[in-house]
Amino acid sequence: MKIGILGAMREEITPILELLGEHKSVEYGKNIYYTASYGENELVIAYSKIGKVFASLTASVMIEKFGVEKLLFSGVAGAINPELKIGDLLYATKLTQHDLDITAFGHPFGFVPEGAVFIESSDELNSIADEVAKSREIKLGKGVIATGDQFIADSSRKEWIRTTFGADALEMEGVAVAVVCDSLNVPFFVLRAISDSADDSADIDFDSFLEKSAKVSADFIMDMLKLIK
Ligand code: ADE
Repeated sequence: MKIGILGAMREEITPILELLGEHKSVEYGKNIYYTASYGENELVIAYSKIGKVFASLTASVMIEKFGVEKLLFSGVAGAINPELKIGDLLYATKLTQHDLDITAFGHPFGFVPEGAVFIESSDELNSIADEVAKSREIKLGKGVIATGDQFIADSSRKEWIRTTFGADALEMEGVAVAVVCDSLNVPFFVLRAISDSADDSADIDFDSFLEKSAKVSADFIMDMLKLIK
């Protein structure tokens, strides 16, 4: 099985490359794709750069050029749900675009014609995550992740995203991966460890906790890989 592992920032995939040790690199489309074997699986690993556009490009390249059959995203997110604290893990059951707005034409936020407000992730990969969390005896949250091309450091915007979409966490790439994978019939999984609470101190918390939270997410993904056949 060929599996893609995608992060947005270098810090999000570095722990995975370090754990893998030996890997190759291929340059394509102004980005670097790392390849490695891991047990029975072949891995293609990359960080896309921040935001939905770059994440869409990288997910598409992983599928169309490298032939990945499943795609796992690993990274950090801002918490919306007050039960989520820095370092906590959650996966997306469904994802939406909080900055997509053609409400002027009577459509709901997050919707464009022939699209959908929410895209659901793979039940099979989500169950594998539940299994890993159970065997490691760690807390793993799940819920709605809202994606947009904005770093949110504002409690009122965060509250709007919570009430509009019922979102538990927010970030800047997940739904792009969801749209690409859903369109191309590739099962996907989006895991995030909390780096901040998307409030007035989000920028400072993000800088302080990015590496530590990214590692929490990466370690979990590595454990999941052992169970994906
Ligand atoms: N990723 C991690 N924290 C975030 C935030 N506050 N806004 C957007 N993306 C994030």
